[in-house]
Amino acid sequence: MLIAIDGPAGAGKSTVARAVAKSLGFTYLDTGAMYRCVALMSLQAPSREPAGLAQSARIELEGAVAEGDPDRIVLDDRDVTQAIRSPEVSQTASLVAADPGVREAMVARQRELIAAGGDWVAEGRDIGTVVAPNAELKVFLTASPEERARRRAAELGGDLPTVLAEQTMRDARDSAREHSPLVAADDAVRLDTTGLTLDQVVQRIVVLARSSA
Ligand code: DC
Repeated sequence: MLIAIDGPAGAGKSTVARAVAKSLGFTYLDTGAMYRCVALMSLQAPSREPAGLAQSARIELEGAVAEGDPDRIVLDDRDVTQAIRSPEVSQTASLVAADPGVREAMVARQRELIAAGGDWVAEGRDIGTVVAPNAELKVFLTASPEERARRRAAELGGDLPTVLAEQTMRDARDSAREHSPLVAADDAVRLDTTGLTLDQVVQRIVVLARSSA
């Protein structure tokens, strides 16, 4: 079974997707981390075409080393778990993610992983619309912009006005891009997480998953 969790930055996708995967015993697929890897490569090799970098990247998504740790992300044999979370990488990820060649390479990689079998919770922006339109369950997570910025600032540090301004810029770019813009699939369940606890959101999705299996 595949559960697709899409939505804008800061809606709580990563935390929710990870918790849903854990609760159901599914594998968590963080597709944003893959775009972040391409962004990091692009920052380190600015003269190279992002699409070429995306094709050559060897990205391995590994589980956390210890309970509560972030999942380990290995790019060309280098641990980039921390490096891909910097504000600079976040902004560049949103730029490289607008490149059709980059998207093509990433979507192909994601489909391969999913097709290899097993049960997945895949998290991103285009899972329900492009990567896996046949997903058994599609959830589109949202939250108010202020709530999303508050969560990001609490998680990654930084002052609220700056985080909110950067988020607004990224949202606009992710939604307005020509290729696979951020939109909810027609058959996605919309879930506004403003004011809900993590447990409430996870429970809601687990119930939906049980009834769609
Ligand atoms: O979810 P995140 O913040 O780690 O995503 C990083 C960037 O990658 C974000 O700007 C949107 C983009 N992205 C995308 O375009 N498609 C995906 N499936 C996942 C992320």
